[in-house]
Amino acid sequence: MAATDKKANTQPVPRHIAIIMDGNGRWAKKRGLPRTAGHAAGAEAFRRTANYCRTLGVEYLTVYAFSTENWKRSADEVAGIMKLLGKYLEEALLDMEKNHVRFKFFGDLTRLSPELQKLCQDAQERSAQYHEVQVNFCLNYGGRDEIVKASAAFAADVAAGKYKPEDLTEEVLSGYLYSADVPDPELIIRPSGEMRTSNFLLWQSAYSEYVFLNVLWPDFGPKDLDEAIAEYHRRNRRFGGV
Ligand code: IPE
Ligand code: IPE
Ligand code: MG
Repeated sequence: MAATDKKANTQPVPRHIAIIMDGNGRWAKKRGLPRTAGHAAGAEAFRRTANYCRTLGVEYLTVYAFSTENWKRSADEVAGIMKLLGKYLEEALLDMEKNHVRFKFFGDLTRLSPELQKLCQDAQERSAQYHEVQVNFCLNYGGRDEIVKASAAFAADVAAGKYKPEDLTEEVLSGYLYSADVPDPELIIRPSGEMRTSNFLLWQSAYSEYVFLNVLWPDFGPKDLDEAIAEYHRRNRRFGGV
């Protein structure tokens, strides 16, 4: 084992890991399967990863499941993804006492079906009692949309007399984001070989370490998470200092 790996193994795991769950479509295409089969396999990869994060003692896991731009896909694909999300949440509600995962949802849920919105609400409410790992599920989420909505909410509070315009600071604006109570992610992982943010956590990622992996999301497993964490431990984080 390399000395750097030894060192990596003794360092604490990041408190907050975020993942862009990408590559489902390519995974399916490689197998001659419909894209929805890739999304189903992606849901399994998410289950594995959330369990592994809980084992490692990661406090927050934020996953990008559906972006504000993903509505551009075919109606069939969008319906397939929404159906899988509903199925996943129904199962999560049944397994809640076993898994002890606390769910939060980041994104504009009003565009989802009333049934899906209700499942999100139930999952959030019924899991609020758990404290092992918090999963922030990004659904109809966009980093720009999040900042616009936070700004509008601040402006409304100014109009209502709660704040003056000059009260706006980074801290105040942070408090209006979906992530208000969550520390910024130390590590953001994007599998599938793409190297861009695709509108994920634009504000919160200011000083996150990005790790890009070539594995497609449905194939992602504990060894890939270990590899990303080891790479994170090799980074020298300066936050603008020296
Ligand atoms: C990520 O996989 C899932 C969603 C964006 C909903 P993709 O569906 O983007 O898979 P690729 O990138 O086409 O392989
Ligand atoms: C980002 O992946 C969104 C999710 C994984 C949910 P995309 O596949 O939508 O991103 P682009 O189109 O490659 O930038
Ligand atoms: Mg993609």
